[in-house]
Amino acid sequence: MKCLIFVLFYVFLIFSYKTVNAAMSEAQLKATVRLIRNVCQPKTQATNEDIKKMHDGDWNVDHPAMCYMQCALMRNRLMAKNNTLNLEVGINLAKSRLPEARKNPSIEAMTKCKDSAKTLNDKCVAAYEISKCLYESNPTNYFLP
Ligand SMILES: *[C@@H]1O[C@H](CO)[C@@H](O)[C@H](O)[C@H]1NC(C)=O
Repeated sequence: MKCLIFVLFYVFLIFSYKTVNAAMSEAQLKATVRLIRNVCQPKTQATNEDIKKMHDGDWNVDHPAMCYMQCALMRNRLMAKNNTLNLEVGINLAKSRLPEARKNPSIEAMTKCKDSAKTLNDKCVAAYEISKCLYESNPTNYFLP
């Protein structure tokens, strides 16, 4: 089952990259986000409660939820080797893939958050710090899994 999800995910990614530079619709973004959750939640054992809390702006969550964010960011290569936000990848991704209305707000939030990862010796905490910053920079535009 896990394997099938991975295969479907990559088929989806390859397929969507082939439709060159076509920005996703809101529905496609939602589907992509759901796919990432379906991979990252079983992998990290993040609880539904913690995931919901992060979506609601309550970042008082356990370590597995932080690793869930790390998994989600890594799916899109949004973290550099040193566990900081990879701004260049993020901006390219936003420009080429996000729905039009989300492009600029997302680029702005990522630019504000480029140095938000502080706990660089724990990739999960670093991902949590980045995600929390992205949320707090623009709660209404937040769409991470
Ligand atoms: C992390 O790596 C990026 C490039 O890969 C670099 O620009 C940045 O300065 C590094 N940050 C830290 C805190 O080491």
